[in-house]
Amino acid sequence: MKINLANIKKAKKLLNKNECVGVPTETVYGLAGNAYSNIACKKIFKLKKRPKINPLIIHYYSYKNLIEDCNINKNFLKLYSKFCPGPITFILDLKKNSKISKIATNNKNTIAVRFPSHPITRNLLRILNFPLAAPSANLSSRVSAVSSADVKEDFGKKIKFVLEGGKSSIGVESTIIDIRNKPKILRLGGLENSSIEKVLNKKVSTRYNTSKISAPGQFKLHYSPGIPIRLNLKKVRPKEALLLIKKKNLSKPNYYYLSKIGNLKEAAKNLYSTLRKIKKHGYQSIAVDKIPNKGLGKTINDRLLRASKFRKKK
Ligand code: TXA
Ligand code: MG
Repeated sequence: MKINLANIKKAKKLLNKNECVGVPTETVYGLAGNAYSNIACKKIFKLKKRPKINPLIIHYYSYKNLIEDCNINKNFLKLYSKFCPGPITFILDLKKNSKISKIATNNKNTIAVRFPSHPITRNLLRILNFPLAAPSANLSSRVSAVSSADVKEDFGKKIKFVLEGGKSSIGVESTIIDIRNKPKILRLGGLENSSIEKVLNKKVSTRYNTSKISAPGQFKLHYSPGIPIRLNLKKVRPKEALLLIKKKNLSKPNYYYLSKIGNLKEAAKNLYSTLRKIKKHGYQSIAVDKIPNKGLGKTINDRLLRASKFRKKK
């Protein structure tokens, strides 16, 4: 990917003025603002129409920048040295004298931190004097953005600038792990749980399947393209699209597949763009064929399950 320094400088200038900027990451695009600034963080919540109680992830260049804001530990360092920069977010204890905006953390004494690997956003983080608060760059409860065009589709002229970074290579959000005491995975994501377990050398518990919301962001309806989704089906209703993991020999115009050969990494990368495409093509609902529940297939199924909670307003 070619790095356009003029664009990075433009983003820096806007961020210095407490404006919000769309930034590419390897998982999904983020809607970024100065994490030290209440003004910038308030703008993020307002633009996204995000409930105030749902705290933001703070993005850093390296863990060296992190030490003033939170306490780290051995397990954090193990995972950091193996996977960062990359698609993993850590929940850590916030330090009392941290400069992070209380709006971003919703006054909690914990913080979610992440080190994105996308070269453009890394270059930006390197030259800023502050970390970036950045939730996914979509309207709250809707499908995340995996291209600059997706960000513009959701926010139009309401945001001044989106840094172009091509299509996100992973396509689903980071895996969130609470690493303060006994490690716990709070959100399935672009890094497989088994890879984390290998590094920590133990089974890690998960909290995302409970009906109780442990991370405020685990709201039941999420990642929705704005039309109903029905799961594990082969029979399609009129005006409905069928979402498949793999290309079928007998294809129909309303069949959309996530990967030609059923590769789960490719499928994750294409998930959100395909959901957006189906909606744009005018279908009124989506039936989803069974998707293998292993590796990144688990993350895909998690997103589709939450998206299936969508109900049309009467
Ligand atoms: O891949 C990603 O993580 C993307 C890119 C842009 O970095 N970001 C992202 O942000 O997905 P967002 O805001 O859509 O999701 C952040 C999640 C929410 O579920 C939120 O509740 C959770 O992180 N979170 C933030 N702070 C937390 C905390 N202190 N404890 C538990 N969960 C937290
Ligand atoms: Mg999100």
